[in-house]
Amino acid sequence: MRILVVGSGGREHALVWKLKQSPKVEEVFCAPGNAGTAKDGDNRNISSDDIPRLVQFARDNRIDLTVVGPEAPLVAGIVDEFRRQGLTIFGPSAAAARLEGSKVFTKKMLRRASIPTADFAVFNRWQEADRYIEESDEQPLVVKADGLAAGKGVFVCANKAQARAAVKSILQEKTFGDAGLQVVIEECLVGEEASVLALVDGDTIVPLEVAQDHKRAYDNDKGPNTGGMGAYCPAPLVTSEIMDEIVRRILVPTVHAMKVDGCPFSGILYAGIMLTAGGPKVLEYNVRFGDPEAQPVLMRLKTDLAELLMMAATGRLSELEGLEWDPRPAVCVVMASEGYPGDYVKGHAISGIEEADALPDVKVFHAGTALKNFEVVNTGGRVLGVTAMGSTVAEAKARAYEAVDKISWKGGWCRRDISDKAIGKR
Ligand code: AMP
Ligand code: GLY
Repeated sequence: MRILVVGSGGREHALVWKLKQSPKVEEVFCAPGNAGTAKDGDNRNISSDDIPRLVQFARDNRIDLTVVGPEAPLVAGIVDEFRRQGLTIFGPSAAAARLEGSKVFTKKMLRRASIPTADFAVFNRWQEADRYIEESDEQPLVVKADGLAAGKGVFVCANKAQARAAVKSILQEKTFGDAGLQVVIEECLVGEEASVLALVDGDTIVPLEVAQDHKRAYDNDKGPNTGGMGAYCPAPLVTSEIMDEIVRRILVPTVHAMKVDGCPFSGILYAGIMLTAGGPKVLEYNVRFGDPEAQPVLMRLKTDLAELLMMAATGRLSELEGLEWDPRPAVCVVMASEGYPGDYVKGHAISGIEEADALPDVKVFHAGTALKNFEVVNTGGRVLGVTAMGSTVAEAKARAYEAVDKISWKGGWCRRDISDKAIGKR
C-alpha cells in the first residue's frame, strides 16, 4: 500500500510512524509534515487545506489510501472530493464532519436522539442571548461559538457578566467571524473528562482504548486552555461498565442518527465525555484522532493500522475480529515553546532528540518542528510529544520524563504532572 497522511502535527507523526510499521505498506507520504515525518516517512510540501493539489498528488502517485489528521480539511469536504475522484480516503464526509464543524448541529442531533449531554439553548441574536443569560437561574454557564475556532471558541463562565461578555464577543463583535454566527449556551457539567475514540465505517463501531488529555497549560490543571499538554492511555477512570454505557447510550445512537439523517459517519468519532454524577455525558464531538491522545493510543496499538484504516474507509469493519493492544500503559508529555498558548518565538535549535529516542520504549513524536540547515528547530507552539510505555503508569511517566530531560531548546518547557491522575488507580 502507498499511503498519504494529511497534516503536520504530533498526531500525524504518530500515524506515519505506525503506518510505516505495517508489512503491507510500501511508502508513507505526509503533506506537509514536520521534521519527524520527514525522517519516518516522506514529506511533500502541500498544505493540508489545498484539496485540489492533494487530489492531484494522490492520483499522480497511485496512493491507495489517504488518512486525514486535522478537522479543517474534513469540514471543508476533502473526503467528498477524493471520493468523487474515485480515491480511497479515511475520514468523514463534510456532512458527517458537522459533528465537529457545528456545535449547533451536534447539540440538536443529541437532543433529537435523547443522547446525554448538557442542557442548552441556541441563539443568533445578541440581545436574545443576553436576555436568556440575565433570566437564567443556572450558573456557571458555558458559551460556545458554533463553528471551528481552533479550540478557542468555548468559554466556561463563572458568572453572568462573563457569559454576557462571551456572547457579545461572539455574536456582536464577531471575534470568530462566520464561525460565530450562532452560539450555544449550555449548562456547566462537573466531573472528570475522558477522550473516547472509535473507528466507524458508517455502520460498525470499534472503540479504541480510552485516553485522557491535559487541556490546561500548567501543573495541577491551572492556567489557560491549550490544544493538550499531554495524554495517557488507558484511562483507569473509565471502567468497562462505564465504557459499555458510553457505547450503548452515546456512540450507537449517534452513529444510528447520522445514518438515518443521510450522513453516515465514517472515520474516527472522538467523543469528549464528562463523567458526571448522573453518568457519562457528551461535551463535544471531534471527527478525527485527538492530538496528543493519538500518540499514546497508537503506541499501544498492535493491530496493523494500515489494514484497520483501509477496512474503515471501505466499509468492512464488521469483518474485524477485535483489536490487539500492548497491555502496558503509555504516557505522552508535550514539550512547548516559550509563551505557548500565547505568542511564541520560533526557530530555536533543539538538542537531545536522538538521545531521548534511543531510550527503550520511548518515541519522540514531532509536532511543531522543521529542519533548518540540517538542524531541527521549533516552528509551532506544541513542539514535541515525548511518549513512553512502562509496566505501570508510574513507570511510563518516569520514562517519558527521563526522555524529556535529555531534550532542550531556548524556552522549551512542559508540564511535570502528566498522568498523575491515573497513578494509584491501576
Ligand atoms: P469543547 O471544545 O466543546 O470540547 O470544549 C473545550 C473544553 O471546555 C472541554 O474539554 C471542557 O473542559 C470544557 N467544556 C465544554 N463544555 C462544557 C460544559 N458543558 N461543562 C463544563 N465544561 C465544558
Ligand atoms: N486533544 C484535544 C483534541 O485533539 O481536540
